[in-house]
Amino acid sequence: MKNLLLEFLCGRVIPIKIVILRDYESLSRQAAMLVAKTVRSNPAAVLGLATGSTPLGLYRDLTEMVQQGFVKFGRVTTFNLDEYYPITRENPQSYYQFMQRHFWEPAGISAARAHSLKGDSDDAAEECLHYEQRIRQAGGIDLQVLGIGINGHIGFNEPGERLQAETHLVSLSGETIAANSRFFEKAADVPGMALTMGVGTIMKARRILLLASGGHKAAAIRETVRGPLTTAVPASLLQAHPRVTVMVDREAGRYLAGRCAP
Ligand code: PGA
Repeated sequence: MKNLLLEFLCGRVIPIKIVILRDYESLSRQAAMLVAKTVRSNPAAVLGLATGSTPLGLYRDLTEMVQQGFVKFGRVTTFNLDEYYPITRENPQSYYQFMQRHFWEPAGISAARAHSLKGDSDDAAEECLHYEQRIRQAGGIDLQVLGIGINGHIGFNEPGERLQAETHLVSLSGETIAANSRFFEKAADVPGMALTMGVGTIMKARRILLLASGGHKAAAIRETVRGPLTTAVPASLLQAHPRVTVMVDREAGRYLAGRCAP
């Protein structure tokens, strides 16, 4: 079954647009330009947003663009990609707090328009179903911003034999817990599970922007863009999406041929 699915997807592969930038600053600026242009042409756009260190520069630059009056986010609707589980929204390590601090508040996005998975929901399955419904009711995602794990995960869709299409509860891999422990006092404090959009939820977005910075992401980027479509590298499935842009800095793009954009 898995092989049939991959064959089907491989038949539809469309080259991913790759943009290699000089450094993290130019990467953040270009990414912010793409998001701002999307919102300028559709002020009521639905954005899918990611957390982690990679998009911090993007959110900083977008906030600056808001302050300069270049773009307004007052009418956008946003959906966050994932959230730890269990975690309360008050917890400073929650992705809810991250988004509040780094983007929703400085960009003027009201709570009613900023959607995220409830990491302290009693019924995770129900929360996931409800999230899919909310995305559908909003008309689907126009632009999904993604980071990538060193193991090729997108959202918290970890490498494995199977991937789940819809938003679901997932156990985090040891690699992901180790990578994320830098945000916590100790690795044991990282929640062992998370709620995440599924690969299908992500693939339904009309446009996808994947960002990566640093040499530690280079192998994952090479596999995503040039490798076979495989559940062992969840991001490789993006090759089957018709409109993906992968923006990387020179280090993350070091295994890809190509010149840096200015
Ligand atoms: P990072 O995380 O931006 O903090 O490297 C990305 C991810 O794990 O998806």
